Amino acid sequence: MADTGKAWDNNWYRHMSFYQIWVRSFADGNGDGIGDLYGVYDKLEYVRSLGVDGIWFSPLYPSPNADYGYDISDYRDIHPEYGTLEQFQKVLHKAHALGLKVIMDLVVNHTSDEHPWFLESRKGKDNPYSDYYIWRDKPNNWDSLFEGKAWEYDPVRGQYYLHLFAKKQPDLNMDNPKVRDEVKAIMRFWLDMGVDGFREDVINFISKKEGLPNGLPFLPAVNGMPYYKDGPHIHEYMAEFREVCREYDCIQIGEGPMTTVQSAMKYLTGEQKSLDMMFSFDHMMADCLYTEYVHRPFSLVKLKKAFTRWQKALDGKGWNALYLENHDHPRVISRYGSEHYWRESGTMLAVSYLFQQGTPFIYQGQEIGMTNIRLRSIEDYKDVSTRTNYQTYHLKDSIERRLKRIHLSSRDSARTPMQWDDDPNAGFSAAKPWFSVNPNYRRVNVAAEEGEEYSILNFYRRCLALRKSSKTLICGKYKEYFPKDKNIYMYERALGEVRYLVICSFAKMPVKVRIPEGYAKIKGQMVLCNYPGGTQITAGDLRKRACRELNLLAAEHGMLRPYEARVYRFRVKH
Ligand code: NOJ
Repeated sequence: MADTGKAWDNNWYRHMSFYQIWVRSFADGNGDGIGDLYGVYDKLEYVRSLGVDGIWFSPLYPSPNADYGYDISDYRDIHPEYGTLEQFQKVLHKAHALGLKVIMDLVVNHTSDEHPWFLESRKGKDNPYSDYYIWRDKPNNWDSLFEGKAWEYDPVRGQYYLHLFAKKQPDLNMDNPKVRDEVKAIMRFWLDMGVDGFREDVINFISKKEGLPNGLPFLPAVNGMPYYKDGPHIHEYMAEFREVCREYDCIQIGEGPMTTVQSAMKYLTGEQKSLDMMFSFDHMMADCLYTEYVHRPFSLVKLKKAFTRWQKALDGKGWNALYLENHDHPRVISRYGSEHYWRESGTMLAVSYLFQQGTPFIYQGQEIGMTNIRLRSIEDYKDVSTRTNYQTYHLKDSIERRLKRIHLSSRDSARTPMQWDDDPNAGFSAAKPWFSVNPNYRRVNVAAEEGEEYSILNFYRRCLALRKSSKTLICGKYKEYFPKDKNIYMYERALGEVRYLVICSFAKMPVKVRIPEGYAKIKGQMVLCNYPGGTQITAGDLRKRACRELNLLAAEHGMLRPYEARVYRFRVKH
């Protein structure tokens, strides 16, 4: 569909928000300590109660779990640990009945080395699957992102295969038209079953440069990236996949690691548009450098620059996927907020992104303010990239320092079991869970927060309801104020006569707020604040709240409290 910028309400995903489920840690329905689709089935009402309109499932397919589902050994089935195809259909049906769309993860840059295609391919050069993967007699110098060099010697075939991720994740050869046909057939399989679209894993890596040239030797882990990111045939291949989606009116959200906004525009806009949204990474690097491994102090200015860069570039031309957490990043309160100001920073972070232009995604546990886990030994971590990180970098540091880095950066912090209540195992499972539960579950859990009016959970609900109530918050123009301010993130959304001003303090101390020119004289109504008491916010009574002038904030209070967030609404006569 052509994106004119006016057609916002013809693009069905634009008014929506999504909840991401990483099923293994969501809810265990059959009592084996592993989350599954029986657990999901029982929790769908909870998901709906948040006010979201769809679910993105991280991979549910059979997998040896070398990368927890992102190493797929059968694209047309459900992992027995998670249920059956029949159970998936029950979940799909119930989700649809509740008004929730369902998006599947499409992981086609690579398969598992236990996928039948690979098992055939490695047998030799003469079999029908021989060219399904990327084989060479001599490897180039690329590193993989997860496990040492990007090439592994296969003694059966007598050649090396390429794996940009773990050794057990061989890259598919997308230049082979048969592989692209397989991808399209997989898409149809799930679309015919009734799913509503795909989140497409590292989709900007699927086309590799001919000849696979050596990369720059001084860039560990990412040295080959210039030759496989946004590669030479990517847009041709994406166009083929787009055709399938068009037939079904489904949506495609691409994951675009390290993609610049300029490259993203080619996927998201214009005639060749092949994705509805892209998960970008710029804003996930406000405390680290190109991977989660190289840590720096958090910089609000960097975060704001990233947000604004994408907001401005896509305005009227494309659409953003908004997120602060997923299964690949540590918990955001522990990164960009403060565990000490847990409720304040958790709610402020919600405000900081949910009112931008785009479709918000909320990751399981984010809505209750789950935080990073700190395990005692590297042996307690499960994630392949976490282990490699520990075993590869800063080896001369003390064990304490090395573990501290893991505490800050590990993806496993996002993968601890969902905290439902204060029963043993956080109500996730009656059996011993497959992975450690964060010990803070007695305080941070759904049941406790359901009952508290000002909890992070209820605040997320309020934010989502507010976003949905306003066309301005969905498709209004974005403008940032005071971009160099090191403590405050302030942006406006404007459409016609209605304007919203969103103000977020990222400071641990009270900070002074400046009011943008022109605003001090107009009357605004505060429609949201994350501090209870003194702000007269009551759930379900958003609109009747006492009017306050924004300049009162400047004149009387003048200060925002630690991690305070406010949203004001104005009607401006032109
Ligand atoms: C991105 C996924 O989100 C991540 O979990 C996975 O490890 C890599 N792609 C490889 O599939």
